[in-house]
Amino acid sequence: MTEGDEILRRRAPEVDPKELGSEKLRRLIEDMAETMVAAKGVGIAAPQVGESTRVFLADSADGPVALINPRIVKKSKKMIKDEEGCLSVPGRWGTVERYKSVTVEALAPDGKPVSFTAENFFARIVQHELDHLDGILFIDRLKAPEAL
Ligand code: NI
Repeated sequence: MTEGDEILRRRAPEVDPKELGSEKLRRLIEDMAETMVAAKGVGIAAPQVGESTRVFLADSADGPVALINPRIVKKSKKMIKDEEGCLSVPGRWGTVERYKSVTVEALAPDGKPVSFTAENFFARIVQHELDHLDGILFIDRLKAPEAL
């Protein structure tokens, strides 16, 4: 899905607890992982592969993690500006300000609760992907018009 597709602009609904551990969810995550690797991305959210549901993958230092129904429960005061791009906004890059660190609560694909604090680049990926679940693209957060 790319910018302009309506699914990218919707707030995705929560994953139904009944779907945790299901073959359907497993297949969605597999599809997302393949798409992310093929595009050499560092994160991907379900709406980007056409599924409006609260699931994303993010590359961490320990490899990709899949998060279900993620929520940011704590944010650092400190913000950092850095360049971002997006698989759904091909060919565009821009500077986005994000929290330096965020604490996230989510479920693993098998339904187990997970909680962690992401910092720096990993925190950026998490915030970018969580935005996708709320219908927000990084281009909405650009500080200044892009230089052409
Ligand atoms: Ni993106």
